[in-house]
Amino acid sequence: MTAVQVAILAAGKGTRMKSAQPKVLHRLAGKSLLGHVVDAAEALAPERIAVVYGHGGEAVPTAFAGSRVSFVLQEPQLGTGHAVQQALPALAEDGITLILYGDVPLIAVDTLRKVCAAADGALCVLTVDLDDPKGYGRIVRDGAGEVKAIVEEKDATEGIKLIREINTGIIALPSAWLRGWLSQLRNDNAQREYYLTDIIGMAAAEGKPIRTVQPHNQWEVMGINSRDQLAQLERVHQMATAQILMRDGVTLADPARIDVRGALRCEPDVTIDVGCVFEGFVSIGAGSEIGPYCVIRDTEIGAGVKIAAYSHIAGAKVGPAARIGPYARLRPGADLAEDVHVGNFVEIKQATLGRGSKANHLAYIGDAEIGRNVNVGAGTITCNYDGANKYLTVIEDDAFIGSDTQLVAPVRVGRGATLGAGTTLTKDAPPGELTISRAKQVTIAGWKRPVKAAKKTS
Ligand code: UD1
Ligand code: CA
Repeated sequence: MTAVQVAILAAGKGTRMKSAQPKVLHRLAGKSLLGHVVDAAEALAPERIAVVYGHGGEAVPTAFAGSRVSFVLQEPQLGTGHAVQQALPALAEDGITLILYGDVPLIAVDTLRKVCAAADGALCVLTVDLDDPKGYGRIVRDGAGEVKAIVEEKDATEGIKLIREINTGIIALPSAWLRGWLSQLRNDNAQREYYLTDIIGMAAAEGKPIRTVQPHNQWEVMGINSRDQLAQLERVHQMATAQILMRDGVTLADPARIDVRGALRCEPDVTIDVGCVFEGFVSIGAGSEIGPYCVIRDTEIGAGVKIAAYSHIAGAKVGPAARIGPYARLRPGADLAEDVHVGNFVEIKQATLGRGSKANHLAYIGDAEIGRNVNVGAGTITCNYDGANKYLTVIEDDAFIGSDTQLVAPVRVGRGATLGAGTTLTKDAPPGELTISRAKQVTIAGWKRPVKAAKKTS
């Protein structure tokens, strides 16, 4: 395919968002609107991407620091044609230029490929037929069906307003033609703006081929101007994601009650209950079940795992057949092997648990290496932090940690060791033995509870 240059228009004000933040930085499915557009553009492997920004100042380029996108300031904003003019110095002069809008986040890469392919030696406009075309630029065709012009609503006659085919704003054409026509734009129209859309009339006048492409789904070209539209498009996107999951063999208790903010990869026969949120990159192995209201981010879950309700998991690895929750919290660096059980109100951070180990109730395990078949009793805490540094707790295979134990790191529990309930372990516990640090239980005969002193009356 011919080399592609991409200009993304994002200088508009977004007044209706009523926000201190630039519109294109508002998020859909956890990613900024502009981020969606940039990612779609990147998928075309273009030579260059230039974003035209204006309102919101440096917040927009700052949000994309480190990306290969170039940012061009448009100040003042004199219309879409003027905006594209500003982008030209940041783009190469050859190939095809594709123009996108920063507030149209769900444009599909397939559709963009079709538009670019059609723009080889032609001007291509992405259009849709709307039941209510009010507000949009209308596609004006002649008797033979050839596109002759785009006329903006504010400049349209009553007859043109009846046209239902509209300009989505997404246009691609040979870069050389674009450069020539942009320099001829005038602002003698109702809005005193330099309209990009005037280049369509210029192309028609020069007898250049003009083609139109339509998207597979109308929502791909929906722009966002208000928080209401943002919420609606979020739901459309989530439903589309849910449909793909179900098509790929995932059972969803309710496709309207799942939120994927990133990428969720599931093997067949995964079941996901209502209210779950997936962030970043999450993968789930075959046959695993996710209970209601779990939040899972950047985590790898093996096959046959059961995660019960209200579990919060981030940056973790969960081995096959594990049992997690309800109310479990796995934090970054939690690495659980096969058949590990983590129960309610257990928090695990930067710790490995070997095959078959269990921490079923009320525990904090941080900076630890736990072997196989270890039983961590209720209320166990690794005291990993002395206020300045963090230290490691090692628990070897087959150890049994009694309830309400504190392991003051650095400390090691030997293989098969038992710690008595209530132990505060400050020195290593030898393998195979019972270690206990509790004071010996005594009964003080005849001890009396204190009595309340009588109140003085004066
Ligand atoms: C534009 C099109 C119209 C199309 C509609 C689709 C023109 C003249 N009209 O109309 O045919 O049906 O989009 O939504 O092109 N922008 C800038 N700088 C500017 C002006 C706009 O960067 O000076 C950006 C905006 O941030 C936005 C996009 O361009 O992302 C479109 O601007 P908008 O004002 O929404 O265009 P419309 O008048 O709605
Ligand atoms: Ca608009």
